[in-house]
Amino acid sequence: ALSPCAINMSSGIRRAICEQLPQLKNIYYALEVPSKVQNSTATRPLLQWILPADVAQHENELLDSVKRQQFDTSFIEDVRVVPRNGRNAAKVEFQIQPDAFAAHLLQADSVVPKASAFQEEHVVVEYSSPNIAKPFHVGHLRSTIIGNVLANLHQHLGYRTTRLNYLGDWGTQFGLLALGVQLGSISDDRIREAPIETLYNAYVMANKAAAEDPQLAQRARELFTSLEANTDPTLSCEWQKYRQYTIDELTGMYDRLGVHFDSYEWESQYSQRDIGDVLTQLRSAGLLQREHDGREIVVVDERRVPVIKSDGSTLYLARDIAALLERQRRLQFTRMLYVVDNGQADHFNALFSTATALDASLKDKLQHVKFGRIRGMSTRQGKAVFLRDVLNEARDVMREKRFASATTKANSTLNDEHVCDILGVSAVLVNVLKQRRQRDHEFSWQQALQVNGDTGIKLQYTHCRLHNLLERFGDIELAEIKPSWQHLTEEPSDALAVLYELARFDQCVWQAKEQLEAHVLVNYLFGLCNATSRALKRLPVKQEKCPDKQSQRLLLFRAAKRTLQQGMRLLGLKPLNQM
Ligand code: ARG
Repeated sequence: ALSPCAINMSSGIRRAICEQLPQLKNIYYALEVPSKVQNSTATRPLLQWILPADVAQHENELLDSVKRQQFDTSFIEDVRVVPRNGRNAAKVEFQIQPDAFAAHLLQADSVVPKASAFQEEHVVVEYSSPNIAKPFHVGHLRSTIIGNVLANLHQHLGYRTTRLNYLGDWGTQFGLLALGVQLGSISDDRIREAPIETLYNAYVMANKAAAEDPQLAQRARELFTSLEANTDPTLSCEWQKYRQYTIDELTGMYDRLGVHFDSYEWESQYSQRDIGDVLTQLRSAGLLQREHDGREIVVVDERRVPVIKSDGSTLYLARDIAALLERQRRLQFTRMLYVVDNGQADHFNALFSTATALDASLKDKLQHVKFGRIRGMSTRQGKAVFLRDVLNEARDVMREKRFASATTKANSTLNDEHVCDILGVSAVLVNVLKQRRQRDHEFSWQQALQVNGDTGIKLQYTHCRLHNLLERFGDIELAEIKPSWQHLTEEPSDALAVLYELARFDQCVWQAKEQLEAHVLVNYLFGLCNATSRALKRLPVKQEKCPDKQSQRLLLFRAAKRTLQQGMRLLGLKPLNQM
C-alpha cells in the first residue's frame, strides 16, 4: 500500500486555472499542505490544494478549467472541491494516476517550471552593497549570499527580477580615504592590485593621523567637499578609478560565490542628483524641518532623522530616498527587497515611512529583508576582515582536508585548486544559508566542512555520487523507458521516499520564496540527499539482475540528480561531478 503524497500542484494546472480566473493571480498563496494528509492512510497518492474562501466560491469555473485545460496534468483524476466548514477556506482534492505521476516526476524536463503567471510582477532585489574603503565584512557576505538566493528563487518562479548592488562610496570618510592615498603616496598600481585592502589601509592610516592632527582632519574635510562639488577634476577622476578597481576585485569574488548583478549603483550618484527635487517634495509634504544651523531633518512617525548636514551635504537617508524614488520611476517595480542586516532596521523604517508618505503607491511594495550576525568566521591567523581572506581560507582548509584524506589521490593539478575552491565556497554558502535569516549564528569551519553533517560538502558529495553512477550506466538508453510507479513502489520504501522528496521540490521552492528564507530549500536538499543516499545503498544498480528494475532505479537517480542540481544552483552552488 502506498502512503499518501501531498504536494504542491505542478505548474501546468496552476497556470491553467490562473488563466481562467484572473482573480487567482496569487493562487500560490493558497497552497498549503496539511500534515493530516501526510498522516492519513489513503492507498493512492493524494494531492491537496487549499483555497481561500473567495476563490472557492468559483467552484464550478474551477472544475471546468481543470477539466478543459490542455497542460501536463495527465496524472490528475477525480478533482473535487471540498468545502471546509467554518474555516475560511476550501480545499481541492486530486487523486493521482500513479504511473502518469511517476512519469511527471521522473521525466527529463519536469524540474524547470514552464512559463509563469508572474511575468508582470517586477521584483527588485538589492543585496551585497559593500562600501569602498571599508572592509567587505561578514554582514555583506550574508547579504550577498541571501540576496542572491532570493533573486534566484524569484527568477526561477518566473518573476521579472532585477539584481542591484548599491555601493557605498560617499560620506565624509571618503575625504579621509583620499587623504590617506596622498599621505602614503600610494601608487595607482598598488591600488589596482588589491583595491579593497589598500584603500581600507589608507583610510585607517588617515583616520589615525587626523585624530592627532586637526589640520589633517580639516584637509580631509576639504578634500571631500571638493569631491562633492566636483571642483578638482584630478581627484574626481582618481575617485572614478578607485571605484572601477573595486568593482573589478568584487566581480572576481562574486564569481567565486556564484553571484551576479544586473546593475551596480553608487550612493554618490544620488548625492546631488534629484536631491533638490526630493527636498522640495519632502517640504511640501510637511515632512522636512530646517534647524537654525542649516541642517534639514525629516520628521516622520515621531522620528527625527537628519538628511542634510549644516554644510549642505547629503546624509545616508537622503541618498536612499532619492535612490528609491529614482528606481521606482526607472524600474517600475512591484516589489523591492533590501537585503541588509538587522542593525539598519531603524534606517529602513524611516526610509519606508518617508517614501510612502511621499507616494502612497509604495505601500506594501517595500521590504527590509533583515538578517542576524555571523560570529566566528575568521581565518586561523585570527583575521578575517576581508571577504577574500574568508574565501581563501575555505579553499585552503578544504585542500588540506582532501590531501589528508587517504581516499583522495594527491593529483595536484590546477583543476584541483578549482575543486577545492568550489568545495570551500559550498561549505561557507550552505553554512550561512541553512540558518534562519534573523538568527545570529556561530560559524565553525569544523562544522561547515563535514561530509556527513548537514553541509555544502554533503550536497556536493551526493551530487558526485549520482553523477558517477549515471555515467557508469550511460549506455542504457533511458529515453525509451517508461517510469513505472508500481515497479518503484514494490521496492523497499527507499524508492518511494525519494519520489516524495522529488514531488516536494516545487513546494519548497515556493515556500522559500514566500518566507524569503533560503533554509527551507537548504533543508529540503539535505532531506533529498539523505533519502537518495539510503536509496543508493539499498537499491543497487550494478548488482541488480532484472533489467527493468535496473532501469527504473536509474530513472529515479537521474531525477534525484536533476532536482539536486537545480536546488544547488538556486543556492548559488556550482555542482561538481568529481571531488
Ligand atoms: N553600504 C551600506 C553598508 O554597508 C549598506 C547599504 C544598504 N542599502 C541601502 N539601500 N541603504 O552599511
